Amino acid sequence: MESDRLRSLFDIRGMRVVITGGGGVLCSEIARGLAGAGARVALLDVNERAVRDVAADIESRGGEALAVPCDVLDREALLRARAAVLEGLGGVDALVNGAGGNRPEATTGPEQPFFDLDAAAFERVLNLNLMGIVLPSQVFGEVMARQGAGVILNIASIAATRPLTRVPAYSAAKGAVANLTQWLAVHMSQEYSKSIRVNALAPGFFLTNQNRYLLTDRETGEPTARGRSIVDHTPLGRYGQPHELLGAVLWLLSPAGSFVHGAVIPVDGGFCACSGV
Ligand SMILES: NC(=O)c1ccc[n+]([C@@H]2O[C@H](COP(=O)([O-])OP(=O)(O)OC[C@H]3O[C@@H](n4cnc5c(N)ncnc54)[C@H](O)[C@@H]3O)[C@@H](O)[C@H]2O)c1
Repeated sequence: MESDRLRSLFDIRGMRVVITGGGGVLCSEIARGLAGAGARVALLDVNERAVRDVAADIESRGGEALAVPCDVLDREALLRARAAVLEGLGGVDALVNGAGGNRPEATTGPEQPFFDLDAAAFERVLNLNLMGIVLPSQVFGEVMARQGAGVILNIASIAATRPLTRVPAYSAAKGAVANLTQWLAVHMSQEYSKSIRVNALAPGFFLTNQNRYLLTDRETGEPTARGRSIVDHTPLGRYGQPHELLGAVLWLLSPAGSFVHGAVIPVDGGFCACSGV
């Protein structure tokens, strides 16, 4: 295949991409990368300051980014965000569902046994990670169904298939995200269009705000026993760097991924392949 044709496979110039959690560590990097490749991005995040900063940074490098403060658990706010995106970008070609994360109150430990875990905290984590994908997929997926084309990319986790100790709600929610990804892939094809694709990424371990308290000692900044164990069980021997998600994101959003549908792709330095022995 000649190089022009190969390049066009990954061409996303002009693609209008909505990214939830766009103010966070991983999705801001995804947004910067996609904008750098010529996509026009809309960043939705409950952290208004963070999305405005990320959008301003992208624009300062010559990219196009719209900051849309929005709670992904609030359908009315999502409908307002959709109107802002349709007005600002003129349409939606892709949705990256990245808002999510764990909470200390839903994490087991010596002071917080599973049996005493606060049910409301457990539900908040389930809601953010599962309904935080369901609701934007309804609101922006409807646009894709109307136009008969689009791509949805959910950010799951390796916790979807390998439940992680201490984070039961997060693991269960991400397992549900992987399941929902397959369900929605089939549903969109059967009910709406063979040109709508739905996939998920399952990142391994990246040191970010949501897991820093579990992986590094607050006082010393040294790795915790859990942090060391993760690196020991990652054949590549380190955490991922946020930019290392970009290749897979580009592949799944672009024409290069045109026959990839209902897939959950690990980007984990080999963590899921490693039995530890
Ligand atoms: N960091 C990792 O190692 C890792 C591994 C696997 C999967 N993930 C997943 O990747 C995604 C991004 O995580 P991250 O590590 O960059 O975390 P992060 O905390 O840096 O980013 C998450 C973003 O989501 C936003 N958010 C939270 N609740 C929201 C809501 N209700 N509405 C809108 N925005 C909301 C936050 O403000 C934040 O900007 C999450 O879904 C996370 O579960 C992370």
